[in-house]
Amino acid sequence: MIRVLIAEDDRNTLTGLVEILRQEGFEAVGAESGEEALRLLSRQQFDILLTDLRMPDMTGMDLFIKSQFHAQDMKTIIMTAYNSIKDAVEAMKSGVYEYLTKPLDLDELFIILKKAVSDFELERENEELKQRLQGVYRFENIIGSSKVMQDVFQTIVKVARSESTILIRGESGTGKELVARAIHYNSPRAKNSLIEVSCASFPETLLESELFGYEKGAFTGAVGQKIGRFELANKGTIFLDEIGEISNSVQTKLLRVLQEREISRLGGTSSISVDTRVIAATNRDLEEALEDGRFREDLFYRLNVIPINLPPLRKRKEDIPLLVDHFIRKYAKANKRGSLSVHSDVLDICMEYHWPGNVRELENAMENAVVLGEGDKVLPEHLPIFVKMRKAGSQEGLEAIYNAGETFRDKIEYAERLILEDAIRKARGNKSEAAKQLDISVRNMRYKISKYNL
Ligand SMILES: Nc1ncnc2c1ncn2[C@@H]1O[C@H](COP(=O)(O)OP(=O)(O)OP(=O)(O)O)[C@@H](O)[C@H]1O
Ligand SMILES: [Mg+2]
Repeated sequence: MIRVLIAEDDRNTLTGLVEILRQEGFEAVGAESGEEALRLLSRQQFDILLTDLRMPDMTGMDLFIKSQFHAQDMKTIIMTAYNSIKDAVEAMKSGVYEYLTKPLDLDELFIILKKAVSDFELERENEELKQRLQGVYRFENIIGSSKVMQDVFQTIVKVARSESTILIRGESGTGKELVARAIHYNSPRAKNSLIEVSCASFPETLLESELFGYEKGAFTGAVGQKIGRFELANKGTIFLDEIGEISNSVQTKLLRVLQEREISRLGGTSSISVDTRVIAATNRDLEEALEDGRFREDLFYRLNVIPINLPPLRKRKEDIPLLVDHFIRKYAKANKRGSLSVHSDVLDICMEYHWPGNVRELENAMENAVVLGEGDKVLPEHLPIFVKMRKAGSQEGLEAIYNAGETFRDKIEYAERLILEDAIRKARGNKSEAAKQLDISVRNMRYKISKYNL
């Protein structure tokens, strides 16, 4: 039986709707407020949510966003007065299934419910098919219900089948590597290698020989022959991460591979053809590099055949509830914590925080919470202090600082320590990078590191 949850603050309308839907063979449950609806959602599964747009305690849209945490597959239908159709149309862009205008036309309501039911059946069949076809790097492991991410998914599914060169762009931690892998493992090249090269981690000359290889005697120290990664990735895919960092000379060579599909090893005389698909990624502002002449324009256009832009998490907050749920499950399983529920304040805090480290930062925060917490519920106190502190008007973060010591100086030092730790964490342990981010000298940084024993 299809289960429908109805959220409507007008009691008469609510009881009427529950009654009518039951007569039509649905299992219908009513909630008189958004909060009550959320409580029911956290305890039972529903297939369809029928919600009023305007309710005293929360809007139907907020309810929809929060409900995603409990029931991702549920279809939401929003009921609205004629004068707020604009809001309803906006809502549909964010993934709401349908809207109905009030006063309700019951025929229209049943047509939409019927459509939802048949969509369900279709989705279930598709899901089964997908499960059978795809292996570990299923697209479903990339989480996101926001419109922007849905668009990204569509592009990924399409380009995976093609041979096109792809440029993935996005801030650190937005999932560039995850997307590159999903593309390769869902492409016709999946049974051949995916070779990943982090361009920034090699000095210039080393990167050249990593990518293109060398012949014996090409330079002092080249005692044998080395096969480059482009050749190793033949018939497969090469993932060039941090492409914004490559030198001019490597840029020129890369351009040649993309144009001619051939390489030559350093010190070699012949050309070797390679059939390697290129996926590149960067978190840099390439346009700026183009303007400054640090990045070749012709190379940029060769790479940017199909651009995929991963928006920062703060621009797609609708994805947060799903990601929280996903990572809590993942780490609860890994740490044998059984099934954990999440306190609604945790979600509120996560929705408010700006996540400069994007999905990676969220994932780390959830792992932290699972590892440090106990009991069967994840509580706000298990979140990293930085996340908590950011919550507008949050007392918890400030309290931790107030309680950090006796004197004003103790408290300031505690706050300073938190900032330093956070900067170092974001710079992934690179202390001079952390100093740069904080705009303090490396020397000052070193002094503080030894002072706080970081
Ligand atoms: N949409 C998503 N769904 C699930 N997990 C995600 C998503 N996006 C990112 N992650 C996870 O977040 C972490 C960081 O992602 P990834 O390494 O792909 O980021 P990145 O963009 O390559 O970052 P960087 O620029 O710092 O290398 C990974 O553990 C990844 O699995
Ligand atoms: Mg990466």
